[in-house]
Formats: sequence, structure tokens, C-alpha cells
Amino acid sequence: MRIGIPKETRAGETRVAITPDIAKKLLGKGFVLQMEKDAGLAAGFKNEDYAAAGVELVDRATALAADIVTKVRKPDSDEIAAMQEGALFIGHIETCEDDGTLSAMFARNIRPLAMERIPRISRAQSMDALSSQSNIAGYRAVIEAAARYGRFFPLMMTSAGSAKPARVVILGVGVAGLQAIATARRLGGDVYAYDLRPETREQIESLGAKPIDLDIGEEGSGEGGYARELSDEAKARQQELLADELAKAHVIVTTALIPCRPAPVLVTEDVVKRMREGSVIVDLAAANGGNCPLTEPDKVVRKHGVILVGHTNYPAMMAGDASSFYAHNIANLLSIMVEESDDGLIFKDFAEDEITAAALIAPES
Ligand SMILES: NC(=O)c1ccc[n+]([C@@H]2O[C@H](COP(=O)([O-])OP(=O)(O)OC[C@H]3O[C@@H](n4cnc5c(N)ncnc54)[C@H](O)[C@@H]3O)[C@@H](O)[C@H]2O)c1
Repeated sequence: MRIGIPKETRAGETRVAITPDIAKKLLGKGFVLQMEKDAGLAAGFKNEDYAAAGVELVDRATALAADIVTKVRKPDSDEIAAMQEGALFIGHIETCEDDGTLSAMFARNIRPLAMERIPRISRAQSMDALSSQSNIAGYRAVIEAAARYGRFFPLMMTSAGSAKPARVVILGVGVAGLQAIATARRLGGDVYAYDLRPETREQIESLGAKPIDLDIGEEGSGEGGYARELSDEAKARQQELLADELAKAHVIVTTALIPCRPAPVLVTEDVVKRMREGSVIVDLAAANGGNCPLTEPDKVVRKHGVILVGHTNYPAMMAGDASSFYAHNIANLLSIMVEESDDGLIFKDFAEDEITAAALIAPES
């Protein structure tokens, strides 16, 4: 069974789906790996390292003609046209937006397996690419904030005077938020955090941060560990109650999102106006409209004296580790998808495992 690894084509995408270490493991399991030459370079993995692991370095057309094609991003129309009928594609398919990718794949009988659909259950943790990449995003977001904030994060007492610690607020305490709290704490910030789901309180405290409690009059926990969308009144109340806490912050990192919904507005323009000059807001939801309406996707702007960071691909800024984690996720997923037979590796019935059943997108779903 051949796995093809074409080079990513999306602007700014530096990750690669398979790293040399993981390639070696997959080869040991009986797969044949064909990678487009230079596909790993932007992530820091050289052709020689893949070749030494046993990967065949091929041209783009050959990588795209494999039985399984794996990428970080969804395939573009040229890639879909170059894949063979009946092939399996594994990657982030970004199924919330319908831009015709899925119908183009179905028209060529290509089976899409969406990494973002891996359920957040214990058995699937090692395959959960949304989490592995969000963890990196949470870390990198805080590093970005610290680099742009013109003051210290920790309390500094020196012979030339002392500096107070930065007051950092993290909004949304999912995977990215938890890592953002941990990173901001490691840097010595005075960290506060807020999430709609009351169960996050204990997690916030266990990381040494202070929970922000708001009574918005509605229960925030929804299905599958995600938040529930609030009524318009509760949203307004949330903004109003958060405002005083946020206006006091020097650094805000926002990560609040419910999958496939526009990002909730948590930091209003009014709040930005009240923040101290030189404060920083890193908005991880920039690609989905932003938790702050002043954020501009893929730009760093200064408004009302506040620096707003709207990068939309933090994992690509840490492409070595991000690729390594992603490749682990892919290999763990592949391990439940195939079994050995007299004719070599064959696919199992994807409908029989709740993980593959959830990730595989059928034409009618
Ligand atoms: N910019 C990037 O490079 C990048 C990379 C990875 C993830 N992300 C984004 O980071 C965000 C977080 O990702 P994640 O994997 O941690 O998601 P997650 O689902 O684990 O966490 C999101 C959290 O937001 C909370 N939330 C939702 N609505 C809220 C509201 N109105 N008020 C307060 N909290 C609310 C949820 O309860 C949840 O805990 C998402 O927007 C994701 O798209 C961005």
C-alpha cells in the first residue's frame, strides 16, 4: 500500500505530513512511502533524512498518484485531478466551509478522511491533530505576545528599579487556552482565565492561574466537551461583565470558539480603547472572525494604542515540532485503519471503528 506525501502548496504552510522518524515506523509496518522531493524542507527535514529512512523521493505527480495521499491541508483542484480514482485522502479538510472541495473529491471517487473530525475521546487522543496543533498555537501565541509587549512578563526587581508582572488574561480554556495559561505562567505573568464551561475552573487553578467567574445566567457546557452557543442576551451580558476584567489586562490571548460557528465577540472595541497603551491582544480566532472585531487576519495592527496580532497559522511558525506531532497523529490513525493479509496490507471496514467512521466523510453526510 503506497502513501504519497506531496509538498504543501498553501501560502505560508511550512509543515509536512510525515517526518523521517515516522516514515521509518510506517515502512516497518509494510507501507511504501513516496514523498515529493523537498516536501519536508520548510519544516527542517532534509531529503537525505527521508531517503535514509527508506522513503522514495519522487516527483509531484507520483506522490499524488498513491493509494493514500496525506497532507496537512486540504487538496486543491489540481491535486484532486491528479489523484487516482478510489484513493484515500487524509488531512485537514476544513469541512465547516463548503468551497466545493468535497464534491470535487466525490466526483472522482476519492475518499476524504478529515483530521478535524477525529472525535475527542480518550482512545483517539494520539490521533487528535486539532489538539496537537492547538497546543502549539497556545504556546506560540503567548511567545508572540511576550515578544511584542514592551514590558516584562515577570515581576522584576533590579538595582535600577522594579517592574510589575504583566496582567495576562486567557479567554477560552480548551487545548490552546490551557497551553497559553501554562506558557504565560512559566514566563512569570499574573494570569487570569475565563471559559464558559464551569469545569475549566479546576484546570485553571491547577496551572496556577486565577479563574474569572461571571454569572451570565446560562449554562455553557455543550456536547462532546465543547461549549454551547449562548442566547443574544447572555452574549451581551458576558461582554458587559468581562469588560472591566479585560480593560485591566496588559496581554489578552483569546481562543474561544465553538466548531463551525463564527467566533464569539469577547473583546469589544470599547474594551480595547480602555486598555493601557502598548497592551497586546493575540486573537487565535482571527481566521473565524476574531474574538475581537478589530483583529485583522494574518496582520499585526495597532488600534487605540493596542497591538492586535491576527496570525492564522501558529503551528506553521513551529513547523518542526508541529509536523512531528501531526505525523504521529497520522501514523496512529493509519495503525487502526489497516490489517495484514496474504496480499500485504488491506483496509479495514472504516464503518466498524467509531474513530474512522467519524473521520471518513461520505457523499451524503
Ligand atoms: N491561529 C492559529 O494558528 C490556530 C491554531 C490552532 C487553533 N486555533 C484556534 O484556537 C481556538 C481554540 O482552539 P482549541 O483547539 O483550543 O479549541 P477548544 O474547542 O479546545 O477550545 C475552545 C474553548 O473556547 C471556549 N468557548 C467557546 N465559546 C466561548 C465563549 N463565548 N466564552 C468563553 N469561552 C468560550 C470553549 O468552552 C472551549 O473551552 C480556535 O479558534 C482554533 O481555531 C488557531
